[in-house]
Amino acid sequence: MNDTLSDQEQAQPILNVKGLSKRYGKGCSHCETPEMLMIDNNRCPHCGSVWACIDVDLELYKGEIIGIVGESGSGKSSFVKSLYFDDEITSGSATISEYKNGETNIFNESAQQKRYIRNYLLGMVYQNPLLGLKMSFSSGGNIAEKLIASGSLHVGNIRSRAGELLQHVEIPLSRMDELPKNFSGGMQQRVQISKALANNPPLLLLDEVTTGLDLSVQARVLDLIRKIQRELNVAMIVVSHDLGVIRMLADRTVVMRYGRVVERGLTDQILEDPQHPYTQQLVHSLL
Ligand SMILES: Nc1ncnc2c1ncn2[C@@H]1O[C@H](COP(=O)(O)OP(=O)(O)OP(=O)(O)O)[C@@H](O)[C@H]1O
Ligand SMILES: [Mg+2]
Ligand SMILES: [Zn+2]
Repeated sequence: MNDTLSDQEQAQPILNVKGLSKRYGKGCSHCETPEMLMIDNNRCPHCGSVWACIDVDLELYKGEIIGIVGESGSGKSSFVKSLYFDDEITSGSATISEYKNGETNIFNESAQQKRYIRNYLLGMVYQNPLLGLKMSFSSGGNIAEKLIASGSLHVGNIRSRAGELLQHVEIPLSRMDELPKNFSGGMQQRVQISKALANNPPLLLLDEVTTGLDLSVQARVLDLIRKIQRELNVAMIVVSHDLGVIRMLADRTVVMRYGRVVERGLTDQILEDPQHPYTQQLVHSLL
C-alpha cells in the first residue's frame, strides 16, 4: 500500500461490499434463503434457481489488487457483474469511498446514478471480449465511446486520449482505426483494458482476463496489469479460476465455492498455508 496516503484514506476502503447475495431464478418455498439448500450445492433441486453469491463481504483498499479464485460456477463472475450493475442483486450493500463519501449503498441508487458510477468510477474487462467491445466500432471508437460517456466532449481530445490509452497497452497507433474483431485474443483484451481505463476509474474489475490466451500472451497481459497497477495505483478485483494468475497479481485473495467465501487472506499466506480443504486442493494442484 502507498505510504503517501493519509491515515483516513488508508482506513476507509475504496470499495466495501457487505452481505452480497445473488439468486438467479424466481426461487420457491424450498430455496427462499440459501441456508435452505445443501452447503455443497447452491442450486435448488425443486425450481432450478441458483444462489450464485451468498453473503459475500469484501473490502478493497486504494491501489490494492484482490484476487477471487474458485472453480467454475462458484460465483466469481456473478459477483463482479453485480458490482458493475450488469445483474441485479438479491440483497446486500456496497459503498465506494469516492461516491457520496462512501455513505450510500450503490445498489439502492437510481438507474441514472448507477450509470454515473459505471461511467466515472468503474472499469470492467469481461472474459468474453464480445461483451466488452463493440466489434463493429474501431478500437479507437470503442475507447471514445467510454470517454464520451464519462464526459469528454472535445473530439480532438478524445482522439489523442484514445491513442494514448492504446499506446499504454502497447497497441500501435496505426491500428487505432481497425476493428477489434480483426485483432488477436490478446490484443482484444488489451483494447478492453484500455477502454476500461479510459475514464481513469479508481476501481477496475477484471474477469478471467487471461483465460483462453496462449501462455506467452497471458504473461504479457499480466505484466501489463501489473504495470497499470504500479503506474496508476488503481484498485482491482481480479477474478480467475487459475491460482497461478492470482499468485502473479493479487495482494489478498478470496476463495469462493458454491457462492460462498470459504477462505480469505494474504495471497502468500493462502498459498503457503491454505486452511480450507478446498483451497488445499487448489494449491496442491498448482504445485
Ligand atoms: N444469467 C444467469 N442465469 C441463471 N444462472 C446463472 C446466470 N449466470 C450465472 N448463473 C449461475 O450462477 C452460478 C455462478 O455462475 P458464475 O458465472 O458466477 O460462476 P464463475 O465462478 O464465474 O464460473 P466460471 O469460472 O465458469 O466463469 C452458476 O451455477 C451459473 O450457472
Ligand atoms: Mg466466470
Ligand atoms: Zn427453489
